[in-house]
Amino acid sequence: MPRKLVVGNWKMNGSLAVNADLVSAVAAGLPCAGELPGQVDVAIAPPIVYVAQLRQLIDKKNSSLALAVQDVSAAASGAFTGDVAASMVAEFGVRYAIVGHSERRKYQGESDSLVAQKAVAAQQAGLTPIVCVGETLEERDAGRALAVVAAQVHAVLMQSELDVSRLVIAYEPVWAIGTGRTASPEQAQEIHAAIRHQLKQLSEAAANTAILYGGSMNAANAKQLLAQADIDGGLIGGAALKAQDFLAIVQAAQ
Ligand code: G3P
Repeated sequence: MPRKLVVGNWKMNGSLAVNADLVSAVAAGLPCAGELPGQVDVAIAPPIVYVAQLRQLIDKKNSSLALAVQDVSAAASGAFTGDVAASMVAEFGVRYAIVGHSERRKYQGESDSLVAQKAVAAQQAGLTPIVCVGETLEERDAGRALAVVAAQVHAVLMQSELDVSRLVIAYEPVWAIGTGRTASPEQAQEIHAAIRHQLKQLSEAAANTAILYGGSMNAANAKQLLAQADIDGGLIGGAALKAQDFLAIVQAAQ
């Protein structure tokens, strides 16, 4: 059974002052580093420019809060202007790398193949990739949700260098992201169960891969979603920007 994981994706939000208040409030609600961990691992993914600030804040608080990033390059180093290598963020103790978020697939044209390469690059730097998958409303209305997600997952699992024991998948229906229109627990569980089946077909080890739900998860609906058999946590956008709401989701995952 995978450990529960709740990750806050701050997207392009924050400032030095706001970050200090938010991280302090979140850390105050979590166990200190080295204390007996709860049932839930918790991480936050700030804009990359704030990783060093958050590293210092978390260390100063001696918090168990982990760091994530919102993207990494598929390359290890070189002439890739604007990219950030996974090994670079690993130097700041970053534990997770979100890759293939639907906003990057849409606005940056990231393909299934590029996302898969980013997942491998993250692992090669010692990070755990959180691979985002999910269908658009048009694809769901056309009855293609399962097929679209299966293809996105397959593109990652077919990477021969991938270690499935160090992988997290996040199902984020595009139509639920930032809309307040959350997938019902049944809708989410259907896709999560299909992803779990796909993982099990690959190997028993993959059966322990955590599958997170993302898409308007909040303090009010988190309990019902997290009660589903194959929902192992959440990838949180808007609700991660308010410490009280984010901690309520963490509590719901306990
Ligand atoms: O990566 C998480 C994000 O896409 C979900 O956003 O605001 O719907 O929780 P939100």
